[in-house]
Amino acid sequence: MHDPSISALSLRLQRARRITVLTGAGVSAPSGIPTFRGPQGLWRSHRPEDLATPQAFGRDPQLVWEWYAWRRKHIASCEPNAGHVALARWSQVLPCFTLITQNVDGLHERAGTSGVLRFHGSIWHLRCWDRCGIEPWRDDRVPLPELPPRCPACGGLARPDVVWFGEPIDHRVLDQCQAALDCDLFIVAGTSSVVYPAAGLLDVAAARGAFTVEINPEATDASSRVNLSWRGPAEQVLPLLLDPGP
Ligand code: OAD
Repeated sequence: MHDPSISALSLRLQRARRITVLTGAGVSAPSGIPTFRGPQGLWRSHRPEDLATPQAFGRDPQLVWEWYAWRRKHIASCEPNAGHVALARWSQVLPCFTLITQNVDGLHERAGTSGVLRFHGSIWHLRCWDRCGIEPWRDDRVPLPELPPRCPACGGLARPDVVWFGEPIDHRVLDQCQAALDCDLFIVAGTSSVVYPAAGLLDVAAARGAFTVEINPEATDASSRVNLSWRGPAEQVLPLLLDPGP
């Protein structure tokens, strides 16, 4: 696909000194992982307040864990797609590149990107519900041997190390993201840009002087706030940007 706008964006990417990308569920959609708000979105068939809040876990940890165990099993059967692979290549060849993701699925890491800033945590990590002091730990066994799983330090309940509605973002992740917003080029891909504070990162980057780009097949809340709104699937657009072709 030769397109003059793709070539212009590609040039911008290659000339930028510092690039930051924020991804959302749409980047993993072509891998077969459902988004949250589309026609087949998870929040169409499940109520977030029953499954993705600390109150829900406090009421019924078994139910919440069954939902996460189902998602972990499904994600384990999915593979990174061309969008993940393109971003992994960017992380290897661009000197100052940061990838922030709202996705908890770990597919960016599986594609080969290291140092991913996981804004909403990781479905493959657990932490102690009672905050006994142990650091979050990775447990990618599918299925988990015990549901709900237990904290190896105190024996209390373990929870998924993800951000639920009403919970703050990990301050260490937030600090690293803030630093990455001092960039020349900020790209948001595959997110509806309705969930804050993630959706607000774009505005901070723009206020600090970044050229802002959205990649999404549909218009979103961010479309009117970016310098360039590119309508297209991330798995097709992202691979073209380092190599736009003849
Ligand atoms: P959403 O489900 O809200 O939005 C997914 C976006 O991806 C939509 O704008 C789609 O148009 C777009 N999309 C679909 N296919 C695409 C493709 N092939 N290429 C590019 N874009 C595509 O998902 P998020 O914005 O990621 O939070 O949701 C944000 C947060 O809301 C999630 O991290 C999750 C959820 O509640 C927590 O769990 C805390």
